[in-house]
Amino acid sequence: MPALFFSESFDSQIIIPLVFEVIQVENTPVATSAPAQFVLFTCQRGAENALKKELERRRPNWRFSYSRPGFLTFRTPEPESLEKRLAIDVPTLRLVFARSCAHSLGRVSARECSNEDGTFDATRALARVWELAATEFGADSRSAENARKAGRPVRTLARIHVYERDQLAVGVRGYEPGLTQSAYDLHRRLFEIAPAEFRASLASDANRLDAPGAPGEVCLDVVVVEENEWHVGFHKIADVHSRYPGGLFPLELPTDATSRAFLKFEEGLRWSGFPIGIESRCVDIGAAPGGGSQALLARGALVLGVDPAEIDPLVLNHPNFTHLRGKISQLRRKLFRKSRWFITDMNVAPSYTLDALEELVTRDDVSARGLLFTLKFFDWKFADDVPKFLGRVKDWGFNHVHARQLQFNRQEIMVAALKKPFVK
Ligand SMILES: C[S@@+](CC[C@H](N)C(=O)[O-])C[C@H]1O[C@@H](n2cnc3c(N)ncnc32)[C@H](O)[C@@H]1O
Repeated sequence: MPALFFSESFDSQIIIPLVFEVIQVENTPVATSAPAQFVLFTCQRGAENALKKELERRRPNWRFSYSRPGFLTFRTPEPESLEKRLAIDVPTLRLVFARSCAHSLGRVSARECSNEDGTFDATRALARVWELAATEFGADSRSAENARKAGRPVRTLARIHVYERDQLAVGVRGYEPGLTQSAYDLHRRLFEIAPAEFRASLASDANRLDAPGAPGEVCLDVVVVEENEWHVGFHKIADVHSRYPGGLFPLELPTDATSRAFLKFEEGLRWSGFPIGIESRCVDIGAAPGGGSQALLARGALVLGVDPAEIDPLVLNHPNFTHLRGKISQLRRKLFRKSRWFITDMNVAPSYTLDALEELVTRDDVSARGLLFTLKFFDWKFADDVPKFLGRVKDWGFNHVHARQLQFNRQEIMVAALKKPFVK
């Protein structure tokens, strides 16, 4: 059975569902004396425990190894082949709270790369990153030898992904996760000193840290955990987020955006791959002041914005926008008969959002094709209930239900639910 992911073209804004074949992973034997293997994750600061609990459920035999705020590592029970490691990522682990996942090649810190006085030797550290890359992707590596024996192409690195763990919790002192200047600088230096055997296989735009990678490409990951502590790994691009370093979209808030929520819905629409375009009929519940609606209107959608609060005039005066002023419970249901996409971003408890959506989308006279909504965790304890929340959405007839804590989500998650095929 093919696995369904969604991909999109960022330049043209055309969203194309893309089917990748599930890769049959062969059982290449790994020497029993091989060193222990670790998996590296980044997440929003504050989400570490939620991610730990998810991994306890998804991979009970993995052992938590190390963490810093926004960064965790786990040890796998036994060494696996390169192909098996490449097949493990955020989508296959079905993680909500991980922003990125990479397979460790080793750590570079003052312990491994120091000057005579014991301080971190950055020049030596840069060279060490490529030495670690060679252990798995060099022409003489065991993985290359296994590939040649099996008659498979030898895996090569297409990109260098450099990213820092989050410096603060999202929103604290205006902090937004993103690619930092020091990540750009480190990427440039690593690119410049790339050994010839790696340089030859890098993608033509690999000199740009923010260039989106293509599905199937393998990236070298350098996670800057501290200025003098880098964790080096690799991953294969398997979804929209893993195309970017650390799953961080190079998105900026447009100057005319009416709220920061524009970013989370822009990211949510790209992540879900929902085919919302010209004249798609959308309802945006909790629309004020209007950033989320702007992301929909920019795609040509027709938007009914539900909110008792004021909508920004920029959105209110858009010809494709209609303000239904009031709480969702106060509005007549027949207003939503033609609507197909329900977007919700209310500052209420998860159970209220779910009750409101359930009451709407399970009605015989409402025909919802897809939902994209936030669940706000006023308390992190709600994270434990995510499987229950998603089970509830499936019970409404949505057969593709995914959740993720997006880069632009604060203490909340985004849920995307789709009926596929959709029969009106
Ligand atoms: C976080 S803000 C939404 C931001 C908005 N999505 C944007 O893009 O700018 C939450 C909104 O939910 C609205 N809200 C809360 N309860 C509601 C309800 N029962 N029905 C409709 N809107 C509601 C609030 O009035 C508030 O404007």
